[in-house]
Amino acid sequence: MSITDQELDLLRTKAIDAKDFAYCPYSNFRVGACFLSTDGTYYSGANVENACYPVGTCAERCALAGAVASCKRPQIPKFKALAVATDISPPASPCGMCRQFINEFCGSTLPIYMYDKDNQYVMKTLGDLLPMSFGPQDLLPPRDRETETETETGTEVGKRTGDGKER
Ligand code: THU
Repeated sequence: MSITDQELDLLRTKAIDAKDFAYCPYSNFRVGACFLSTDGTYYSGANVENACYPVGTCAERCALAGAVASCKRPQIPKFKALAVATDISPPASPCGMCRQFINEFCGSTLPIYMYDKDNQYVMKTLGDLLPMSFGPQDLLPPRDRETETETETGTEVGKRTGDGKER
């Protein structure tokens, strides 16, 4: 699903504005992010650091977790674009952990607009940034993952009954 010029304008503004909400006393590296869902909702986030450094969260995961957690199951929002804004040039791209986190909820064609310090962007798709990804489609539904099947000769443990893929 493509994004209109008007939507991209707003997405850019929201990602850039989100930098003002960054809590980054340790790195002083502000990141703002904004996801646009297919129903037209914008979900912003910023990086939130911690004195125990690894506990900090990136802006992309902050925005995406907020979006997913604002939606009551069984619904899960669908996304048509992500914008990320930093104060550097060339622009920063989502870190590896964020790429994987985004892959959980977005398809490989998701456009990711990365804005630099002058608000110029580079666009790559999620598939560009995370080729040969591993995602939900690679796992069978939990119930089917490991079933015990009674057979005439005994018990077969771990028989896969889902998509028949050999792993
Ligand atoms: N950061 C993000 O928020 N997103 C990224 O994709 C890269 C890094 C944050 C994490 C940390 O707060 C700061 O930038 C420096 O790494």
